[in-house]
Amino acid sequence: MNNHRQKLIYLIGFMGAGKSSVGTILAQQMGVPFVDLDTVIEAGQGATIRQIFEQAGEPFFRQIEHAALVEVVRKSPCVIALGGGTFVQKANLDLIMATRGITIWLDCPIEELWQRCSKIDNRPLFRDWESFSALYNQRLPYYRQAEFRIVTSGQSPEEIACEILHLGLF
Ligand code: S3P
Repeated sequence: MNNHRQKLIYLIGFMGAGKSSVGTILAQQMGVPFVDLDTVIEAGQGATIRQIFEQAGEPFFRQIEHAALVEVVRKSPCVIALGGGTFVQKANLDLIMATRGITIWLDCPIEELWQRCSKIDNRPLFRDWESFSALYNQRLPYYRQAEFRIVTSGQSPEEIACEILHLGLF
């Protein structure tokens, strides 16, 4: 693996997959900064993701999400937790591929995702089971394009980070 590829690690997956929790631990263990894309967006707008969706709508959110990603990829080396919809947008996918970073899909069963998201009321796209499962199924083909897949079911964030480290990529 050449050094250039070791600079950016992208964590991909549906809402509730554990991208932020795993990313924090992974970055700490790798000794590189952790960047949560949603947090960058919220800081830039001075508003929560929910407020941005409610006040400006999803198309505006997708624009600023892309702009935030453009900035964040300059910060290598780092571990980046993407939002659940980031990897699904073609412009983001193209940018991510162009950086030649490592893409890792945290694959979690939909029932577990649903349970986790039910406990925290901060996700504008989390509404009812029908829309949740439809969005999940629509996004699976995109997540499958990630270079690596970690099956996270039943594992703690520490165990998942450990499994990623043991992929021997870094
Ligand atoms: C979204 C997921 C959220 C956030 C926004 C949109 C999505 O991030 O970016 O609410 O489209 O699935 P998480 O995956 O961190 O919840």
